[in-house]
Amino acid sequence: MCGIVGAIAERNVVEILLEGLRRLEYRGYDSAGVALLSNNGDYSQVRRTGKVNELANAIDAKNGMGNVGIAHTRWATHGGVTENNAHPHVSKDRISVVHNGIIENYQALREELKAQGYSIDTDTDTETIAHTVHSLLATSGSLLAAVQNAVKKFHGAYGTVVMDREDPSRLIVARSGSPLVIGLGIGENFIASDQMALLPVTRRFIYLEEGDVAEITRREVKIYDAYGQPVERGVVESNINHDAGDKGGYRHYMLKEIYEQPTVVRNGLQGRINDSGLVSGIFGEGADELLAKVKHVQIIACGTSYHAGMTARYWLEQYANVSCNVEIASEFRYRKSVVHPNSLLLTISQSGETADTLAALRLAKELGYMASLTVCNVESSSLVRESDMAFMTKAGAEIGVASTKAFTTQLTAFLLLTIALGEKNGMSAADKEMILSGLHSLPSKIEETLTLAKSIEVLAEEFSDKNHSLFLGRGEQYPIAMEGALKLKEISYIHAEAYASGELKHGPLALIDEKMPVIVVAPNNELLEKLKSNVEEVRARGGIMYVFADKNANFKSDETMRVINVPNCNEAIAPIVYTLPLQLLSYYVALIKGTDVDQPRNLAKSVTVE
Ligand code: F6R
Repeated sequence: MCGIVGAIAERNVVEILLEGLRRLEYRGYDSAGVALLSNNGDYSQVRRTGKVNELANAIDAKNGMGNVGIAHTRWATHGGVTENNAHPHVSKDRISVVHNGIIENYQALREELKAQGYSIDTDTDTETIAHTVHSLLATSGSLLAAVQNAVKKFHGAYGTVVMDREDPSRLIVARSGSPLVIGLGIGENFIASDQMALLPVTRRFIYLEEGDVAEITRREVKIYDAYGQPVERGVVESNINHDAGDKGGYRHYMLKEIYEQPTVVRNGLQGRINDSGLVSGIFGEGADELLAKVKHVQIIACGTSYHAGMTARYWLEQYANVSCNVEIASEFRYRKSVVHPNSLLLTISQSGETADTLAALRLAKELGYMASLTVCNVESSSLVRESDMAFMTKAGAEIGVASTKAFTTQLTAFLLLTIALGEKNGMSAADKEMILSGLHSLPSKIEETLTLAKSIEVLAEEFSDKNHSLFLGRGEQYPIAMEGALKLKEISYIHAEAYASGELKHGPLALIDEKMPVIVVAPNNELLEKLKSNVEEVRARGGIMYVFADKNANFKSDETMRVINVPNCNEAIAPIVYTLPLQLLSYYVALIKGTDVDQPRNLAKSVTVE
């Protein structure tokens, strides 16, 4: 999604802005731009479609100087990918604006602005922000007041930074629905949509809250809430590693993140389990009392996080005896739903900023859920701040657009939650012991499973000329099949569908022929015999299968079936372990196909618009 960087300093800020944009590149974008203003009033603006390097190459001594500046990477929502639609957008050669989010009433605003004599020169909704601020400047008395008045007219979501060419001493920022963070320097200050952009220049951050408008000068940050009242927002010291954005010798972030899984899962368990169970208080202060009352869990998430939620449902019902529903956030937020008594609203998100998930949480608060818990990877995110309880997955920065380590750490978190809820709801000692011993062995099982990479790389060759594929799993491996299919389609652009294999005969069998590879996830569990029958159904119709199976499941490679043996592991952690070969498969298929693995086409990392 779009990225914002802004800076106000005594020094030239152009490199700070460009480095900030580069650090946001992973989020996905199609064009970029920068506007710079010098203390002597000189102004320059450069915009380019394509990568940030295209923009950097277009900047030279003449247009690359400014003590204050704003910059943006755009992921098109309104209007095509053109230089003219790239930000910053300017009104009357005076007000320059960068914006994340969507101004939903932009058509009505355009008409209003046209009637006032403004010409509309782009296809974007953002242009209306620039003109609206400009139109209110004369009557408002200051840029701050003009922005405060302007935001009252906007419906939708915005994180925006506004610069006045006639005043190089301040930037005004406003946030509603799209995240913005202020970075504090010494005699200089910064702004970004993600703290990652600012790590080279500061570790001290202020996270703006919904409705906040702030005035940022070199020495001061003044924040006003949605009612225009001055407010203090706390300063947070970030402990994110400056190098979190490096590939660390790997060819792609995705591969690095796949190989980080043993470490991050270990980190996520450290201090949270011991030999006899969970360490108390791991879900936060007061959480144990709240969780003790939970009788139903409603899970809300999108994409990969939704697949984690689907897996969690199997665990919560099977082991913890707690009923559970799982729903995609964009559906949940727009339909009438029934709230069960003592219901916990559980959101799952890597970024903590996914617009639909956040909106679903806000809706749920009105619906009367007993409490909300988020399982999230970003401590400073809106979901963490707005939920009653937060459980951090500790996966570290995930840069590859295709989620990998975020997913396995989410699943690890759900095994902990299963124990926490199960202990209050009659979980058997044997199940608790099985999950616990699985968790203790998990980091080393992940390590062992990653050694399959070479044989999976060879297997991937067979997919490079395929256009379609089917993924099959049963029980808690069905969501893992779904996640495998999502990974493959995201980064290799091969059409992939996942089915619970018992469902094959109800339709999808019609698709089977030698051109449709069928990927089967087959751990040695109580559904194995059923799964084997489904495999025979495919074989009888000439399908070619790729089976990821436990050695004891006794699948043998032959002319219709390639079998990769996955290390033996206990039932509880099998969904996590079987995820890894599917991640590796999609990575190597994408590599062979030569796609942009870390930034697949049309996708963005953090989906902060609806
Ligand atoms: C897939 C992927 C997306 C995200 C989804 C939700 O690889 O990354 O499907 O899982 O956009 O994002 P979060 O988890 O940040 O809410």
